[in-house]
Amino acid sequence: MAKPITVVVTGAAGQIAYSLLYQLAAGSVFGEDQPIDLRLLDIPPMMGVLEGVIFKVQGEALDKFAKKDVKVLVVGNPANTNALICSHYAPSIPKENFTAMTRLDQNRAQAALASRIGVSVDKVKNVIIWGNHSSTQYPDAAHATVDKDCVAHPVSKAINDDAWLNGEFVETIQKRGAAVIAARKMSSAMSAAKAAGDHMRDWWFGTKSNQFVSMGVVSDGSYGIPKDVVFSLPVTIKDKKYTIVQVNLYLPLLKEFHPI
Ligand code: LMR
Repeated sequence: MAKPITVVVTGAAGQIAYSLLYQLAAGSVFGEDQPIDLRLLDIPPMMGVLEGVIFKVQGEALDKFAKKDVKVLVVGNPANTNALICSHYAPSIPKENFTAMTRLDQNRAQAALASRIGVSVDKVKNVIIWGNHSSTQYPDAAHATVDKDCVAHPVSKAINDDAWLNGEFVETIQKRGAAVIAARKMSSAMSAAKAAGDHMRDWWFGTKSNQFVSMGVVSDGSYGIPKDVVFSLPVTIKDKKYTIVQVNLYLPLLKEFHPI
């Protein structure tokens, strides 16, 4: 049997963790044969007032107690800033081990494109979420593909409506978090937990060939983004290490077909 790995969930009494814990325990994140030593952490409720400072405490705790190859996913908003704060207070841990979640935005974007085309969500790949989570992100379908008859077709061609792709699509994904809050009077929990599981599963097992996913990562200066800020970028993952994908931003919308 594989050696157990330690998985720490902070905010464990919260509504996102409530949906995430089942996925972790069922093996859908790290695999059914991987034993996990699950540690649940939470804080006294009053501490929740100062979110940034909370992330300072967590960074310091990671610095002191975690293995140096720990993989950290920050979900609490503002996730990019919180990931940066957490990393700042854990200087003994490599910066690339801290990530922020934009997988929720990616999943929403994939779902919106799949629904528009009339296929299931798993057929849509390589949507990119640039920048931040939520309203200041930019969801980009220029490199996205849809699988049909064992061939990856450009999403832009399948939809054939650049005005929708550059307008309503972008706005809907940017405002989806606020729309969920308006409808539920609470922020999304199950979809956020699903996205957290997806993010960690891909970090653990790697991405499939010809596919990339979006994560908030510490910038290496790619795309002219200032170094050392946390920014959502397309990445591929192998052996638990991600590589920032360099897509050509100056290509017109992808128009070619290619085999999957
Ligand atoms: C979401 O995108 O659903 C949430 O991050 C919104 C929020 O502000 O909690």
